[in-house]
Amino acid sequence: MSSIKPHGGELVNRIAEGTEREQLLQEAQGLTAISVDNWTISDLDLIGVGAFSPLTGFLTEADYKSVVDNMKLASGLVWSIPITLPINESTASALSVGERVALKGEDGVVYALLTVESIYNVDQRHEAVQVFKTDDLEHPGVKKLFSRSSINVGGTVTVLNRPQPEKFGEFYFDPAQTRQIFADKGWKTVVGFQTRNPVHRAHEFIQKCAMEIVDGLFLNPLVGETKSDDVPANVRMKSYLALLDNYYPESRTFLGVFPAAMRYAGPREAIFHALVRKNYGCTHFIVGRDHAGVGDYYGTYEAQDLLKSIPVEELDITPLYFEHSFFCKKCGNMATSKTCPHDKAEHVALSGTKVREMLRNGICPPPEFSRPEVAQILIEGMQEQPAHS
Ligand code: ADX
Repeated sequence: MSSIKPHGGELVNRIAEGTEREQLLQEAQGLTAISVDNWTISDLDLIGVGAFSPLTGFLTEADYKSVVDNMKLASGLVWSIPITLPINESTASALSVGERVALKGEDGVVYALLTVESIYNVDQRHEAVQVFKTDDLEHPGVKKLFSRSSINVGGTVTVLNRPQPEKFGEFYFDPAQTRQIFADKGWKTVVGFQTRNPVHRAHEFIQKCAMEIVDGLFLNPLVGETKSDDVPANVRMKSYLALLDNYYPESRTFLGVFPAAMRYAGPREAIFHALVRKNYGCTHFIVGRDHAGVGDYYGTYEAQDLLKSIPVEELDITPLYFEHSFFCKKCGNMATSKTCPHDKAEHVALSGTKVREMLRNGICPPPEFSRPEVAQILIEGMQEQPAHS
């Protein structure tokens, strides 16, 4: 098993199996049911399998306040993103602390039982400013926050049913599995790579720089909810496979998805992403330019600065920081300002919006920006997307 300890020391397992599961499913029939959306089902599953260790459920008020204000759980352990379950007022007024409730999806499936430990009101504006550094509703994370209720229910969960992936099911691995896989491969050091985008040359460059100093790369694309103009996960998955097939040594790379929702919380999400990858068994984690950022809300290296402000022993996974990478025509290779002395005019730089426009129009971005095998898959995928997205 991976030598790196999960966050908090123990890998949480809140998935019920066998007769326990049968009994709880039976019990669920007589319990108050709370309807939950796909975002919450994704959080539930990640809590269940220990990806969010040490969380065993949705944050109680004490943990919530501590996370929002101090980036720590009430226990003092670093935790940067509030994982909460908002409920509407009528549901809240019918609940009492100590009660067990069933969490039911829109499909009628009981995904989990929750033991109510805390019911509390939150100041969403305060949360937005603390977590996202803005209360601007144009920010996708803030918009999501304000679209939910300001009453949360917190408590431990027991997962009874798991969401079934529609596609690429073979790339879903729980933390216990990835830990075993890395051990079986003999990897003592593993670098995790978070992405919500296709892997372009800049991503490839920083991954491969990292691969020079660790045993293996865990390419761990986020495939939960993202904003509508991000490239859909199924298109991205095809592009990752093409890239790995053509440009990466099989024995040193491992692809598995991260089925979480994207928060776009920039610096705070970088911490969260690093801690979660530690739970999956990574010893190192890549943080490049504007990690988990959106628009101009965060500075290019703000995520790196926030991570650096946390004592190494509290994080307990080694972040690998990379500067903004690009292809330099004069150098004839990928570089950063640390290694390239040339003027910006020599650098191949394309904005995400520009690339999306090119792909939608069937135009391949230059090979200095994207591998042709990747670009081809994106062109096919993007042309199927509505033009406004
Ligand atoms: S993210 O929202 O998942 O962070 P993205 O998929 O674009 O977005 O980035 C994945 C990782 O690569 C992040 O750590 C990000 O900082 C890094 N990254 C993306 N583009 C570059 C680049 N041009 N130079 C350096 N790092 C980059």
